Amino acid sequence: MDETTPLRLFSSHFSEATQAGYAYPFWKARVALYAILQAIDIKEGDEVIVPGYTCVMDVNPIMYVGAVPRYADIDPDTFNADPDSVRALVSDRTRVILAQHTYGIPAPMEQLKAIAQECGAWLVEDCCLAIGSTYQGQEVGTFGDAAYWSFQWNKVFTTGLGGMATTNNAEIAEKIEAITAAEATPPSSQSALVLALQRLVHTGLIWPRTSALAREVFRRLSSLGLAIGSSDPSEFRPEMPDGFFTTMSEGQAKAGVKRLKQLDSNLAHRRKLAEIYSQLLRDKGWEPLATAEGHDPVLVGYPVRVQDKDRVLAQAPGKMVELGSWFESPLHPYETPLKDYGYEWGMCPAAEKACGEVVMLPTHPRTTEKDARRVVEFLTSSTKQAV
Ligand SMILES: Cc1ncc(COP(=O)(O)O)c(C=O)c1O
Repeated sequence: MDETTPLRLFSSHFSEATQAGYAYPFWKARVALYAILQAIDIKEGDEVIVPGYTCVMDVNPIMYVGAVPRYADIDPDTFNADPDSVRALVSDRTRVILAQHTYGIPAPMEQLKAIAQECGAWLVEDCCLAIGSTYQGQEVGTFGDAAYWSFQWNKVFTTGLGGMATTNNAEIAEKIEAITAAEATPPSSQSALVLALQRLVHTGLIWPRTSALAREVFRRLSSLGLAIGSSDPSEFRPEMPDGFFTTMSEGQAKAGVKRLKQLDSNLAHRRKLAEIYSQLLRDKGWEPLATAEGHDPVLVGYPVRVQDKDRVLAQAPGKMVELGSWFESPLHPYETPLKDYGYEWGMCPAAEKACGEVVMLPTHPRTTEKDARRVVEFLTSSTKQAV
């Protein structure tokens, strides 16, 4: 890659920001995971342990390479994979443990790393929701053999859609580079252009009071084929669609370079809002998010468990309150045909309970302290906390 291209520039700035030796940009994070799985030679019948509290787009690349996802339940306090559940799934076919830092809360890397070492599996970190978070003072993304990151609309910072694969392992890096050069294609100029227009619209529309309406308009436009949605309908089944293995466009990379410059203030804002939410919830007699010793999360959204999730989510837009809902299903979104992905209801009880209870409070840079007060006032006056 030419050092002066926007892609090279973004990769090099991103490497610096995340302390990764090598960084490779893709159209989406799921594509980055696919490249990593190919690079570490994951094949038919290999097993990949993944939390049963994730996005189905994370599981697709595992299925695309013919591997078998095994679903670990979560720790209900941190929403991350429970190491005991991970350990119980280890078999002689386990090749990868996927450590997802849910909502930006660092996964228990010490335990997961120990399990991976014991069974000789690769440790791959899903940092899609977690840029800036640290565990025992160390940046997430630097514990495992490789990591991947998302820059999709609702992530910590966005390039519209976008993803990055990072590693500190020169051999893996060389393989990602070779596979990408041989098999990946650039996005069509039409897709790159539509995405560039969407970035402009997105910048103008996403404010806490307008985001619910904006999201709905965007959903309708993408169902009419007039906007590029985060996922194509062909991605809701476990077979790789044509054109999946796509690199990042120059426009995405330029947006990435620009937005990376605001990363520090973005992260500081999210940390501050998390403190504000914790205090506001405490003042209302609700339990705030508990943060374990040595975990320093930057939250993509602040998770709160409520008793009437569906009702609260339905009422929020009418009150111009921004609330998110991740994850709605063990393999988000709600519509995922779980059986096609080898998930049976009851496999991960703690994750399933969280799916029915967790709503996300906004932490993005346009959320003011006043917005945070409105959100908490709405929530605590509309429902009770679930325990
Ligand atoms: C935890 C997690 N991992 C991976 C992904 C996939 O990211 P992308 O949409 O960039 O492919 C998502 C998407 O929301 C996610 O929530």
